[in-house]
Amino acid sequence: MPTIQEVTDAMLVSVPAPEPWGLEDDLDQTEYLVDGEIRHHDGPMQLVMPCLQMAEVGLDLFAIGHYPLLSTEEAMQALDAAVRAYDSGRGLWPTLSVGERIGYMERFVVAMKATREEVIRLLMWEIGKNLRDSTKEFDRTVEYIVDTLEALKELDRTSSRFQITQGIAGQVRRAPLGVVLCMGPYNYPLNETFTTLIPALLMGNTVVFKPPRLGVLLHRPLLKAFAEVFPPGVVNTVYGDGREVVGPLLATGKVDCLAFIGSSRVADILKSQHPKPHRLRCVLGLEAKNLAIVLPDADLDNAVKECVLGSLSYNGQRCTALKLLHVHRSIADEFAQRMAQAIDKLPYGAPWTPGAELTPLPDLDHARLMETLVDNAIKQGAKLSNNGGFRVGNYFQPAFLTGVDASMRLYHEEQFGPVVPMATFDDIETPIRTVVESNFGQQVSLFGSDPQTLARLIDPLVNQVCRVNINCQCQRGPDTFPFTGRKDSAEGTLSISDALRVFSIRTLVASKLSDQNKAILTEITHNRLSNFLSTDFIL
Ligand code: G3H
Repeated sequence: MPTIQEVTDAMLVSVPAPEPWGLEDDLDQTEYLVDGEIRHHDGPMQLVMPCLQMAEVGLDLFAIGHYPLLSTEEAMQALDAAVRAYDSGRGLWPTLSVGERIGYMERFVVAMKATREEVIRLLMWEIGKNLRDSTKEFDRTVEYIVDTLEALKELDRTSSRFQITQGIAGQVRRAPLGVVLCMGPYNYPLNETFTTLIPALLMGNTVVFKPPRLGVLLHRPLLKAFAEVFPPGVVNTVYGDGREVVGPLLATGKVDCLAFIGSSRVADILKSQHPKPHRLRCVLGLEAKNLAIVLPDADLDNAVKECVLGSLSYNGQRCTALKLLHVHRSIADEFAQRMAQAIDKLPYGAPWTPGAELTPLPDLDHARLMETLVDNAIKQGAKLSNNGGFRVGNYFQPAFLTGVDASMRLYHEEQFGPVVPMATFDDIETPIRTVVESNFGQQVSLFGSDPQTLARLIDPLVNQVCRVNINCQCQRGPDTFPFTGRKDSAEGTLSISDALRVFSIRTLVASKLSDQNKAILTEITHNRLSNFLSTDFIL
């Protein structure tokens, strides 16, 4: 049950951060990666503020660094390098064998592992993610790459033979799309960028990647690894204002695939900038407004535990977070009371504070948006039902609001932060209608114990969202499961194996089985004359 003073004191004693999480080095990044070389930008720079922005209570920390605000011309050089490296599919990278590309990526993993501590430190300082989750983000990303390599081997093995039908022999494989522009989100700046970047590379595409506005410096230790491991132009980076460094790239028509995780508003703008939108393959992870529906017979201990975790891990800044709880009126009071208690008990502090679950938001605007959403709901009649809802700098103590209804912004909008709105229902049609009428369609969580009731809800809901969670929070993992959404929530499906598919296209070489053609196919495969037309089996 923290007070403003207690939160303030906890933040004030959290700096300097204990070793090894303190920042000593100069984080003035001038480097960007183009055509295999680390270049230095000497134009305008973006100031990077630390995760603790609390000048108003006496914690006046300096900027932790800078990163380059590239010009359109510099960004265009990055795109041109990627286009040259692809060379209309004739470049070294897109024509390598799968086994050779795997070799490059294995070397990258070794180099990446060496940056672990530095990346974790920067995740905490830049986006305020706690130590446990920052560590998990790094380790999960390494694991994702390793698992992707295994999935690619498996995909290649199933493609390493000819199919013969109606006198025609064909070998079907997956070929790259071209140049991929990868843009990840601030809440998983490493993981979600890499879950598109890595499969895109492995399938033979060349890449330009732009880290999110918040969460740039943490990529800096990896630049050297990209530069040292991959052939020139295969990986290139751009930083800065999207209007300068993204729009003009798309307007050239030279980007073949856009992998973007962010808002649907920005995704629409980006897509419309491509001169031939039908040529642009899009892999999009967008907003969500995932509901928890708590039925009268739910196990309340479990429902409360999962709803707290689902709404507030990483301060609710997950696209998969539970963003509206719909609770049956018969249990609403008890559920609300338990939720309020559990939320008020959550430990808070700086990201490196041992055990801190709640941490500052990455910028002040975000924290102020939480105040605006809470004010809007209270003005419309919602009740603040816990001891939260206050702001100390960019830290926002979670607000648990009951009596939320459709007149309030929190009922429809994605809050992406530590505000937990709860509505009550008498008729199950009410939450179902909310799901149906929502602009979003990612996931839903159902809490209940009667198999018949749950089954009756599962069948219509799987046609509205892409994952129905029974008695547990919404989430993306395990990463082998498909991750996608309907309506304004996603385009394309990601998972370890699906991502390899979305960044490639099925392509085949086929021939009528005449004696001459048999001899040609045999010679090509026996003498390993082609990387595509090949019966090599990766062990
Ligand atoms: O922000 C969206 C993430 O993909 C959510 O992943 O459910 O593993 O936190 P998560």
